[in-house]
Amino acid sequence: MRYDTPSLERWNSRAYDSSFGYVSTQGAPLVDLLDPRPGERVLDLGCGTGVLTAQIAFRGAEVLGIDGSSAMIEKALAQYPGINFIVGDGHDFSVVDPYDAVFSNAALHWMSRDPGTVIANVREALTPGGRFVAEMGGAGNCAELTAAMLTAWREYGLREPELPWYFPSPAEYARRLEKEGFVVRLLEYFDRPTPLDECPGGAADWVRMFASSVLEGLPPEIVEPLLHRVNELAAPALRRETGWMADYVRLRFAAVRR
Ligand code: BEZ
Repeated sequence: MRYDTPSLERWNSRAYDSSFGYVSTQGAPLVDLLDPRPGERVLDLGCGTGVLTAQIAFRGAEVLGIDGSSAMIEKALAQYPGINFIVGDGHDFSVVDPYDAVFSNAALHWMSRDPGTVIANVREALTPGGRFVAEMGGAGNCAELTAAMLTAWREYGLREPELPWYFPSPAEYARRLEKEGFVVRLLEYFDRPTPLDECPGGAADWVRMFASSVLEGLPPEIVEPLLHRVNELAAPALRRETGWMADYVRLRFAAVRR
């Protein structure tokens, strides 16, 4: 679900358990960690345009994709007409028949209003023993990008922008999962520097694409110089000879409903 992005409408500990006959390695595809089986019912929470939903379906699972953005769901339905997709909110969804697994990639950090409610809704959507397999931004995600933003905002005498994401530490998210009735089987926390291929204008483009809400209400004439300053401030850490890199940090986990 892509919350708060109206204009465009993410302790290293490893465990092995019979529920997860696969031990993750950093960067291995999240769908492999989910390991969907033919006939299983899987819910993809924050499915975006459905690319990973389709991979799950390709492995024979019966899958439903949910996303908060109707534009994303429209595109998903157009691209994958044989798969079920609906618009829905992670803070407020329920299912009639429980699922064997809930999957989520790069979406939970947008569900920032009440992460505990999101996890409780996932629990209620699962059968006992059902799997919750997800990857999201972890603590420190986009730290250079957001530091550049905060400095630029301050230099321009603007109020600190409210950032729309939730990037928890592994310990914090594990506590939340346990509190809401999950057993955490695997939790990984790692850096994943990511080329900003879709942002030729660098950090400025990234802000426009992923943090558009912070630009709302600003005097139009300061937006360009402000974003130019974000680029100047972010460049020493994030600009390489080959292009811009985002300083992404991932939190990946697999948990089981008690
Ligand atoms: C991510 O970590 O995937 C992410 C976080 C904030 C904005 C865009 C992407």
